[in-house]
Amino acid sequence: MLTKPQTQSQAQLISKINKLKAQKNAVILVHNYQRPEIYEVADYIGDSLGLSKEASKTKADIILFCGVDFMAETAKILNPAKKVLLSVKDASCPMAAMADAKEVDEMKNEIKKKNPDAPEALVVSYVNTTADVKAVSDICCTSANAVKVVESLPKDRKIIFVPDRNLGDYIKRVTGRDIILWPGFCHSHHFIKEAQVICAKETHPNAKVIAHPECKPDVLRHADEVCSTEGMVKYAKESSAKEFIVLTEQGMVNRLKRDLPNKEFYTPKFEKDEHFAGYCYNMKKTTLEKVYETLLNESNEIIVPEEIRIKAKKAIEKMLDVK
Ligand code: 13P
Ligand code: SF4
Repeated sequence: MLTKPQTQSQAQLISKINKLKAQKNAVILVHNYQRPEIYEVADYIGDSLGLSKEASKTKADIILFCGVDFMAETAKILNPAKKVLLSVKDASCPMAAMADAKEVDEMKNEIKKKNPDAPEALVVSYVNTTADVKAVSDICCTSANAVKVVESLPKDRKIIFVPDRNLGDYIKRVTGRDIILWPGFCHSHHFIKEAQVICAKETHPNAKVIAHPECKPDVLRHADEVCSTEGMVKYAKESSAKEFIVLTEQGMVNRLKRDLPNKEFYTPKFEKDEHFAGYCYNMKKTTLEKVYETLLNESNEIIVPEEIRIKAKKAIEKMLDVK
């Protein structure tokens, strides 16, 4: 079901983008946190895992990504022969910028020095990383498959989990594995406070709480379900509950409402000066105007050096092979 375009000019732009897309044999892949009008030009809307899978099987000549840089980079790594465009040049993920390939190697070497006889630590990188970090990783994961990915690794190996310490901590608790956490975090999730969740639960006592694993542990302990953004859609669809408190980037409520118009979705109440909690500025940089311009001019092309791409591809493909 499509939501109605809000204004006439938006409706015109949507129609122009859809025509251009057909002319250029392009697909538009859209992350769940994008503005609701962007959903209207999407060939696929979803979470990072769904988007990577979609990118790996598309027959289009051009992939236009409405999301942030690491998502478009992942698409390029999987599709070197295709033109991959990012809707807005500087739509980046600040958490991905918190890890650097050289530092990851240094951490690996330090662990080796401390335990010279132990097998080398494995690097599991969240897809929210640069191509350089993926290239020094053993395997990637997303929030949807992180537990399975870690469980697929040999039990005798230490794991360095990069860069989200909250997701890493969650996996550590679920799997009981020996995981070393990188000190990165996502401001949109990390700044959601436990007190705000308690308050939301008091206001909506019948609501189920669905939380993204990038939230802090004290927030996650109030969740009925911890899952990826697409996992939230599935959970809310299958649940008999009618109301849900959604602990992730606020735009997720638009996606949930679009698919489940008869259910209610709430976010916690944030203070006016809490600019980051539950809000990703980078995801919101994409507008219909920008999508049209980018596709028309084929601008913001993603380039990944071949040497890095080949190594990064191995880590992504290993992840896609985990069943
Ligand atoms: P998902 O893969 O769950 O959509 O998460 C992506 C992301 O950037 C979360 O902040
Ligand atoms: Fe990155 Fe957080 Fe934005 Fe997701 S919500 S893209 S992790 S900054």
